[in-house]
Amino acid sequence: MLQPPSDPTDVVAVIRGVIASEEEAIAHYEKLIELARHHHDYVSENLAIEILSEEEAHRQQFQGYLKEYSK
Ligand SMILES: [Fe+2]
Repeated sequence: MLQPPSDPTDVVAVIRGVIASEEEAIAHYEKLIELARHHHDYVSENLAIEILSEEEAHRQQFQGYLKEYSK
């Protein structure tokens, strides 16, 4: 779970924490997709795929911030 960094002004640490959280969310939805598919629950599978794409977009956004703030 995302915890605040020891230095709250450390923007790069915060960004890295967010990326780690997004990656946990992505792994969670990937598992959910597999589980839903296994049980032929296509509506849940579809919903999880939609949410997964949002989480991947968040990760990409914060990877962009990391690139910007790591300069
Ligand atoms: Fe997210």
